[in-house]
Amino acid sequence: MFDFHAPLRFPDAQPESYLPLSEEPVFDPAVHLALEHPGLSYSLTDLGYSKTEIARCATPFAYSEAFRILSPAGVAAMQEVCEAIYSNRNESTGTGANRLGSYARGAGYRSRFLRDFCDSVELAEHLSGIAGVRLGRHSVPAVACGINYAPDDISRAVDTWHVDSVNFDVVMMLTDPNQFRGGEFQIFKGTREEGQKLLGIDGEEGGSAQLPEARIETIPFPAAGYGFLQQGTHIFHRACRLLEKAQRITLIPSFEVLPAHEQDSTNALNMAEWTDPGITAELARHEVWRASARLENLLGTIQLTDEPEALGASIRDAVERLRAFADKLEDPR
Ligand SMILES: [Fe+2]
Repeated sequence: MFDFHAPLRFPDAQPESYLPLSEEPVFDPAVHLALEHPGLSYSLTDLGYSKTEIARCATPFAYSEAFRILSPAGVAAMQEVCEAIYSNRNESTGTGANRLGSYARGAGYRSRFLRDFCDSVELAEHLSGIAGVRLGRHSVPAVACGINYAPDDISRAVDTWHVDSVNFDVVMMLTDPNQFRGGEFQIFKGTREEGQKLLGIDGEEGGSAQLPEARIETIPFPAAGYGFLQQGTHIFHRACRLLEKAQRITLIPSFEVLPAHEQDSTNALNMAEWTDPGITAELARHEVWRASARLENLLGTIQLTDEPEALGASIRDAVERLRAFADKLEDPR
């Protein structure tokens, strides 16, 4: 049986094109983590979200300042792993072309070190304290452990304006931010709807259009091993282009709310259009798991006196996301 209180375990198999590293360090939280608290955190209210909109979210937390996550030994080990994965990064041309310049999604399939870091209970507990809601490693391996590299063509942004398809994610700098010019990480200080309106889009990704300078905040990273946490589905953000060729690597571990019957804003319908190997099955596991948790939770609350209409609505709520996902798979248009 599945445990709805812990992250969904990784699939037993892995995509053939993802090559596991033959040699790598062994993750040890006591050696590689150096968790500190952010100085400041901002709420969805600070970004202009209404009480009604916030009530639909798992937490009013929006994003934090960068805080230390890795020890110097953790930075060295993580750099070694991410550099080793570079030659096996995802195809970012042809069918793999997207807004990201150069990246490795599903990096936890390639590296046990990375998977164990993203799965670390210490990390999840620390981030839960910052977000004000219980978080666990995301159940979709493609996004649970992602790496972003600088594109070869530095005239391209590292990542253009977008909101994420996952509830929560950390953006952690792995290379020394004082050693390159440009490549800043920026947040739009407004709601998702405002961002979409200004970018002239109705989806999640807005190309390289400019947002008003006065509404943009740059997140400072003091050193490698620092990262910040964000409720990514609610914040437009980007990583600017580099001004000169340099190594810029960020690790993006993603998280979802636990237990699994709680609110989930994972945008499986958007991710169903990605071409990563195995992603359709990964998303199906996620949606089936979360719907099972909602049904189990509902089963525990049904009373003999419940009104038919209310029961119908509760059942519909529990399976609505799963049905929408199945519809999307059967009719991708
Ligand atoms: Fe993002």
